[in-house]
Amino acid sequence: MNGRVLLIIGGGIAAYKSLELIRLLKRKGIAVTPLLTKAGERFVTPMSAAALAGEKVHDDLFSLTDEVEMGHIELSRAADLIVVAPATADLMARAAAGLASDLATTVLLATDKPVLMAPAMNVRMWGHPATQRNLERLKADGVHFAGPEEGDMACGEHGMGRMAEPQTLLEAILDMLPGTGAENGTAAPALPEGLLSGAKVLITAGPTHEPLDAVRYIANRSSGRQGYALAEAARDLGARVVLVSGPVSLPVPEGIEIIPVETAREMLQAVRDELPADIAVFAAAVADWRVENAAAGKMKKEQGTPRLNLVPNPDILATVAGMEKGRPTIVAGFAAETDDVIDNARRKLQAKKADIIVANDVSPQQDVFGGAENTVHLITAQGVDSWPRMDKQRVAEHLMRHLARMWRDAKRSRAAEQADS
Ligand code: C5P
Repeated sequence: MNGRVLLIIGGGIAAYKSLELIRLLKRKGIAVTPLLTKAGERFVTPMSAAALAGEKVHDDLFSLTDEVEMGHIELSRAADLIVVAPATADLMARAAAGLASDLATTVLLATDKPVLMAPAMNVRMWGHPATQRNLERLKADGVHFAGPEEGDMACGEHGMGRMAEPQTLLEAILDMLPGTGAENGTAAPALPEGLLSGAKVLITAGPTHEPLDAVRYIANRSSGRQGYALAEAARDLGARVVLVSGPVSLPVPEGIEIIPVETAREMLQAVRDELPADIAVFAAAVADWRVENAAAGKMKKEQGTPRLNLVPNPDILATVAGMEKGRPTIVAGFAAETDDVIDNARRKLQAKKADIIVANDVSPQQDVFGGAENTVHLITAQGVDSWPRMDKQRVAEHLMRHLARMWRDAKRSRAAEQADS
């Protein structure tokens, strides 16, 4: 799933276009929670909105069952983005005034998520100083706008006030939704601050060094950049971040607790010591083998060429993901592949019992190693989501938000299961 939109459908003839918008969003894998105002219900039926969205429609502030299942505060925050389409003159006026006179305006007042409005009204209503005042007020409050457009109106007049077309709205939504706006490769979407507030995120990063003796070791070329960028992204979303890091030459990021380790076994121990965590991301390039008979001192040339007996290292990701007790809610791993990227990542997802594998196509033509950009595929039990090429920093930001949403959804369904039992 690529995020969730709470779609408030106001009372205007353009409401029928919002049904088309639901279809377009669903086709993009975006979940839609429809919310109809009283006036909105006169233009489209709750049943058609529910059928297209495949979800229950919210329409009554005082519905007792709704308040028990999901209160208006929770409703206002359960989506990544709130879209008001059509935003009528009346709805805009009430939102601008900060009224909470029905479910729609209450949600708009209570939300901490970005809001996108698609105004639709008669040309004179749009041009009225009162509406323009409300528009400026709402913009100053941080509300985003798409449209209106110029054209013929249902009332027979011509001018500014037609609601933006569903395709135009879809594009505006993709620009604002984390994890999907990336597809455009344009402006970074507004950061939903606090998506990870209260969460502990544990990340492994960098290579491991496996000693041959007191001074020599086996290593790999991992720079640790991806893991460090993820740690910063998690911190920026409000998480408490612990970064278990192999030897790297990166500056220590602010506001992140770093636990330096050298070997795979030390990394596993540090990870165990840091559990429980809400989300664990295994971005380290852990050495698959270590030398069984590492010498305590420095080996001498005169002693002859040593024979190295390699033994497998513990798989940290598989160990943690397979834990029966104390397993983090979301466990994410990486897979760098050159061939059959998705099939191999799928196998890894199952074998290691991860919730998600982030697969990198590292074939030479992709120029990922050492390059600034990355092409990733997110593999979960639900399917594959392939992201377009983007720089590694943005991969980290989008990925962390994606994991935050998975965590939140998992928490929500766990709470629902508990309530059922
Ligand atoms: O099997 P492979 O090394 O390709 O799997 C990569 C994923 O598993 C990465 O997420 C890596 O951090 C994790 N891993 C681990 N411990 C190992 C080997 C890999 O946590 N010993």
